[in-house]
Amino acid sequence: LENGVARTPPMGWNTWNTFGCNISEQLIRQTADAMVANGMAARGYQYVVVDDCWFDPERDSQGNLRAHPTRFPSGMKALGDYLHGKGLKFGLYQVPAAKTCAQYFNAFPGSTGSKGHEEQDARQFAAWGVDYLKYDWCSPQGSIDDQVRDFAKMRDALAATGRPIVYSINPNSIHAKTGPLRDWGDVANMWRTTEDITNRWDTGSDGNSFMGVKNIIDWTVPLASYARPGGFNDPDMMEVGNGGMTDTEQRSHFAMWAVMASPLIAGNDVRNASAATLSILNNSDLIAVNQDPLGLQGVQVSSDGTRRVLAKRLANGDVAVAMLNQGNSTTTISTTASTIGKSGSSFTLRDLWTGATSTSTGTISASVPAHGTAVFRVSGGGNTPLPTTFALRSASAGR
Ligand code: GLA
Repeated sequence: LENGVARTPPMGWNTWNTFGCNISEQLIRQTADAMVANGMAARGYQYVVVDDCWFDPERDSQGNLRAHPTRFPSGMKALGDYLHGKGLKFGLYQVPAAKTCAQYFNAFPGSTGSKGHEEQDARQFAAWGVDYLKYDWCSPQGSIDDQVRDFAKMRDALAATGRPIVYSINPNSIHAKTGPLRDWGDVANMWRTTEDITNRWDTGSDGNSFMGVKNIIDWTVPLASYARPGGFNDPDMMEVGNGGMTDTEQRSHFAMWAVMASPLIAGNDVRNASAATLSILNNSDLIAVNQDPLGLQGVQVSSDGTRRVLAKRLANGDVAVAMLNQGNSTTTISTTASTIGKSGSSFTLRDLWTGATSTSTGTISASVPAHGTAVFRVSGGGNTPLPTTFALRSASAGR
């Protein structure tokens, strides 16, 4: 969406993965303080997004949304001011339907969705200082035309406020669920590619239920051609630091999100993040790959079903290469400079996990543990075109 924001994938933190509805202004302030103290803010994590359950179950007599009276007693304007005072940005959750997802599924009281209140709510968000809106379909009903209409309505309402607001949508995980595939770049800055992430590597999911990290990668890689500055595929908030995956799997998760130009929205309790978790989330080399100004999603250049190789062209001519081992034992993964869009005969490889550099005349190879991802930044030589539309999955193939 050409609304001036999200020229690179948005970075930040969201309440949902760890806290669900168990949120408060104290939690948000403590998290913001922690993000400043632990280096996340300095590395670009700026949007602090309060997901479902932040609101009073009743609108006021004029139909205005209000903050939940006991969870956010100081109100949302005060919370936005606090975040802005820390140099951070403020995100909120809402839906185009009558009920939010938690009102629909989790017995959170009320029906305070934006249906019929789009302009009023957009004005309210702008008045509170909101910089990012997550707008979640969360309903089994609705055709793709209904979704386009309702998501566009809020897009236009946000634009009418004049405030730059990142617009993040969840179109009923339509890619995975029912198809058809759609490029949402005319509607939003980021759009979910699958059902909700869960804190595991492999759920064996078919795309219709909670998704493991490996499964989300399977669904999101083929959508590479949709990504560009202003619009990115969103494989969901991260589970790094949440204890359900090995260190190797968490590093793969982060490396693949970085190379897929995915929004980097942390989903852990950052107040208590371990050094190991922060060494992943704060990897500056991978963040630089993710935030590269070309805004390209890495494209798959080879796969044998177990060993995936992705290449992401970068603005200075370097190419980031990710080599993911989806198998259950250590294996060697190899590619070549020409396969990842490099010409020439002399290259420097920087390992983005260890920082070690090496030279190569064209072969790029690594021993990769089960569920691991080796990731290098390849410099030197010239550039040749990479495929731009790798095997875009058809709607029927998505079933
Ligand atoms: C849906 C979304 C999640 C989260 C919850 C909140 O499941 O996909 O990311 O926002 O709603 O209820």
